[in-house]
Amino acid sequence: DWTPASFIEDTVGQLREKLGNDQVVLGLSGGVDSTVTAVLLSEAIGDRLHCIFVNNGLLRKDEFEQVLKQYEGMGLNVKGVDSSEQFLSQLAGQKDPEEKRKTIGRVFIEVFDEEAMNIEDVKWLAQGTIYPDVIESVSVNGPSATIKSHHNVGGLPDFMKLKVVEPMNTLFKDEVRRVGKELGIADELLGRHPFPGPGLAIRILGDITPEKVAILQEVDHIFVQGLKEHGLYDQVWQAGAILLPVQSVGVMGDERTYEQVVALRAVESTDGMTADWVHLPYTFLAEISNKIINRVKGVNRVVYDISSKPPATIEWE
Ligand code: XMP
Repeated sequence: DWTPASFIEDTVGQLREKLGNDQVVLGLSGGVDSTVTAVLLSEAIGDRLHCIFVNNGLLRKDEFEQVLKQYEGMGLNVKGVDSSEQFLSQLAGQKDPEEKRKTIGRVFIEVFDEEAMNIEDVKWLAQGTIYPDVIESVSVNGPSATIKSHHNVGGLPDFMKLKVVEPMNTLFKDEVRRVGKELGIADELLGRHPFPGPGLAIRILGDITPEKVAILQEVDHIFVQGLKEHGLYDQVWQAGAILLPVQSVGVMGDERTYEQVVALRAVESTDGMTADWVHLPYTFLAEISNKIINRVKGVNRVVYDISSKPPATIEWE
């Protein structure tokens, strides 16, 4: 019978046998799959697992520092690489969603490749692939998905020539969470909403600037913290804010303002393939809207997205 404990025992044994004394590299995204994969591998081979966590400058507010600290607290051998400037400068002026995704994928591979190849004698690339990724090849999660969708562009980067180890590729998402819990990973990490690999880049419609990223990080933070404080976070499958390329007229004191509009999105879903917008309480929406407009300079209007998928998608880009 499958239990998280028996899975861990069997897999750790198999990993030790397979990997021996080899060095292994893994890209952490902050998401559930890569985190559980890392802890499992670290049980098996300790510090011969080298984790790399890249800041692409498009994460949530303070996420890079906080998640890195959590990883270190879990005893993972992790290197945080802040490549924000590199990502943002390569993205400058790009408006098209697919072009932005390609740029982010390319820069990620450049950064990851350089870091991976600095690890002496590295033989293996570990990936947080789970069973649904195997059957559909569409993943909502960071680096492994990014690598997969970009590895055929312009020849293989060096790290792609490594042998691949994917210890969770037989598991479904709920099993991954159970294994993670059994491994002692905090509920806070295991219950995190999915977050797209390109991050806030696909929630800033049109071109990206550091100022827009900063505005959206504040808005998103107020919304997500509010969901947590009101006990709504775990009832929602995914939530976030979108910065629209629209300015609207407002009024502050006797002054007319002409500022940005943000949209809030919260959906219920099981796998991201279909999704319904969440009927968040009006009182909650009113509080969040006031907080955003009062606290975030440059935003004077908040709208709530009441579209379901299909025909809308979860992301706006
Ligand atoms: P859509 O917008 O297609 O999103 O309804 C479905 C799920 O996929 C996530 N998503 C992405 N994840 N790279 C990712 O890693 C991407 O380019 C990407 N686009 C969408 C989205 O956040 C949702 O969970």
